[in-house]
Amino acid sequence: MQKIIIAIDGFSACGKSTTAKEAAKALGYRYIDSGAMYRAVTHYFLEHHIALTNPKEVAKALNDIKITFHVNANGVSETYLNGLNVEKKIRKMRISENVSPVSAIKEVRVAMVEQQRKLGKEGGIVMDGRDIGTVVFPDADLKVFLTADMFVRAARRQQELLEKGELVELDAILANLKKRDEIDSTRAESPVRRADEAIEIDTTNITIEEQVDELVRLAFSRMLVA
Ligand code: DC
Repeated sequence: MQKIIIAIDGFSACGKSTTAKEAAKALGYRYIDSGAMYRAVTHYFLEHHIALTNPKEVAKALNDIKITFHVNANGVSETYLNGLNVEKKIRKMRISENVSPVSAIKEVRVAMVEQQRKLGKEGGIVMDGRDIGTVVFPDADLKVFLTADMFVRAARRQQELLEKGELVELDAILANLKKRDEIDSTRAESPVRRADEAIEIDTTNITIEEQVDELVRLAFSRMLVA
């Protein structure tokens, strides 16, 4: 059967990565977390004190950054920055608080989109992010846009952080999500937007299993026509 490209977009904490990861496993596809790439760049910029307003510094830093994904012993894909596993570090609140301005920089987006296209060119991938269906793979065989109620999103993110050992107040998470939604959807470069042909799924009241089943069902229907 044809190996298709599946693009999943939406705001933070709408269930994109969990759904994408599980659906990829069920389909035998590769999962690529494009948000992790922007998080890894943000981690590098913070560590190296890169001035976001200095194009030369940004360009040099981007040249020095290599992001890869490796599947660990548990079958989970983890993010590596210049050969070092940064998976845990990039999920911290500190990165969430700094990632939106970094991902709004045109040069950062150009560099990441180029890598994302390379990773996906063979098909057989599920990639999630903000601009996958609109910019990275405008010809993706299946485009899905996930939404969810703001409080549900915040509670899910709080639980995720807790599972990783970080206790963050719900109010702080709500404020961070709102601020990131605002920056991510109003930036000049590739703002978050539902592609016209994307199928919208509201995940507020459905379980992860239901989200995954729906995605897999949609994927099979597209494979038959691809
Ligand atoms: O999905 P996430 O919360 O891990 O993404 C982190 C940030 O990266 C998010 O605030 C916006 C940015 N991002 C983006 O601009 N484009 C993408 N394709 C993915 C993420």
